[in-house]
Amino acid sequence: MRDLNRMTREELADFIRKNGGTERQELIEESNRLRLLSYGRDVYTRGLIEFTNYCKNNCYYCGIRKDNHNAERYRLIQEQILECCQLGWQLGYRTFVLQGGEDPYFTDDRLERIVHSIRTAFPDCAITLSLGERSRESYQRLYDAGAERYLLRHETANDIHYRQLHPKEMLWDNRRRCLWDLREIGYQVGAGFMVGSPFQTPECLADDLLFLKELQPHMVGIGPFIPQKDTPFGSYSAGTLEQTILMVAMLRVMLPAVLLPATTAVGTLDPLGREKVLKAGANVVMPNLSPVDVRKKYLLYDNKICTGDEAAECRFCIQGRVERTGYTLTVDRGDHKDRRVSYAN
Ligand code: 5AD
Ligand code: FES
Repeated sequence: MRDLNRMTREELADFIRKNGGTERQELIEESNRLRLLSYGRDVYTRGLIEFTNYCKNNCYYCGIRKDNHNAERYRLIQEQILECCQLGWQLGYRTFVLQGGEDPYFTDDRLERIVHSIRTAFPDCAITLSLGERSRESYQRLYDAGAERYLLRHETANDIHYRQLHPKEMLWDNRRRCLWDLREIGYQVGAGFMVGSPFQTPECLADDLLFLKELQPHMVGIGPFIPQKDTPFGSYSAGTLEQTILMVAMLRVMLPAVLLPATTAVGTLDPLGREKVLKAGANVVMPNLSPVDVRKKYLLYDNKICTGDEAAECRFCIQGRVERTGYTLTVDRGDHKDRRVSYAN
């Protein structure tokens, strides 16, 4: 099979346009082989706590955008977040992901207190934040308070496409600035993009891969776009499973040691979507750990799965899926290979 790492933008776009063509099967096998080399059969878990669905932004694709007046808004307070972590710890999670919209209520002071309280109560766990664009100073303060990873999908690395997905106040340059600041501060950084978002071309996806190659993030979240009926993109069609699998496999080959989640969106698109993506090189799952009464309100897209289940149900459902696919769900922080702390003496 041709070496993806030597392909030009046009060659990558062509490969994507043909869905991998005759090399598709070989690509998926190579992706699997590289994952086994870097991480064996281990699949890492992250407990996802969706702690606010207030958002000051208006991304055209996102169900919790400011102008969606049908979204019922909620916030979790510090005690509720800590209760989620407590339950999560008992369920075997050693990473907590605090994810939310860009909610001005959560000032640096408030977030610092939350991060610090989790850091103190769960010293053996990793704290991941996913709170959108903030200032470098803010990222630094949260890092100093004990957060060590940050997820901020770049969404699309093509400036023109970026403007088609976002209102004019949101700038690709600022998104890039954030990602580079996070890296420089020392976070393990997660970027990522949607597959099949409106106006996306194979060239856009090639730009995503080349951008990721340059950024060298520790994690990359890839999931299909799924329309949400109360957004401007409510009547566009969803991305496909076939293309999502292709992008996951291509990325594994381009960044062999990257952590790649089998996302909730891919599980929403196809009942066996996560299993199929795991077989194509993904090695992380992020079950929902939010309180059941708020889950239905964190609707980034329609028909999102796992919104009615208790945290324990999600945990065991995922474990079964991972194990039936031939992998092992581990109780581990699941750091990137280059960031492993050795506890051996
Ligand atoms: N379909 C799929 N993914 C979406 N996201 C937001 N809206 C949608 C949608 N309609 C993704 C974005 C965001 C992440 C938290 O969820 O990529 O970064
Ligand atoms: Fe919230 Fe886009 S609508 S980040």
